[in-house]
Amino acid sequence: MKTYYHARAREYDDWWLARGLYGEKRPAGWDDERRALERWIADLPPVRTLDVACGTGFMTQHLRGEVVGLDQSDAMIEVARARLPETTFVQGDALDLPFPDASFDRVFASYFYCHLEEQDRVRFVAEARRVAPELVVVGSRLRPGEQAERWDERVLRDGSRWQVYKRVFVPEELAQELGGRVLHESRYFVMVASP
Ligand SMILES: C[S@@+](CC[C@H](N)C(=O)[O-])C[C@H]1O[C@@H](n2cnc3c(N)ncnc32)[C@H](O)[C@@H]1O
Repeated sequence: MKTYYHARAREYDDWWLARGLYGEKRPAGWDDERRALERWIADLPPVRTLDVACGTGFMTQHLRGEVVGLDQSDAMIEVARARLPETTFVQGDALDLPFPDASFDRVFASYFYCHLEEQDRVRFVAEARRVAPELVVVGSRLRPGEQAERWDERVLRDGSRWQVYKRVFVPEELAQELGGRVLHESRYFVMVASP
């Protein structure tokens, strides 16, 4: 997962924007639902937030309050810094966060939890709880006929092929798993806050 996303940094936003390799597969209503998700993120109360696995900062830009972004990939962070020059970005491991206990009010994690297998999920949630009382997770909503847990084959522009672990969620089940509540759900997206 780490190497794949590092290699994908320069073309990562194509997925959110449904362009490039993702242009032909643009699902109906995708842009509207992405914008609705962005509005929900912007409506979160402005607090000290750590955006874990922030990637290119595509969602970081909508968070209000005092925001720090963290990612393991310097290539991702470079894109995020160019997008948000005023925001602090730190290179580090989400499973061993380089911050003292209770440094933040909220950990926000978009499209990260869904890529963690069970052992890493447990480690990540424990780390998130250590640094902040609230955890907000964004991911894909399970769609009819879709497999909830799987290994996807992904292709990059250079033709390289990668195997990526991915889960998609039934909103209420994700809320239950994290001991929280559903903040937003649409056809493609789900956002859960815990507690
Ligand atoms: C699917 S992207 C999500 C990026 C961003 N949050 C978004 O929603 O657009 C997953 C991100 O997780 C980062 N990542 C993977 N493993 C990580 C780890 N152990 N610690 C920190 N970041 C990690 C990758 O570099 C990548 O930027």
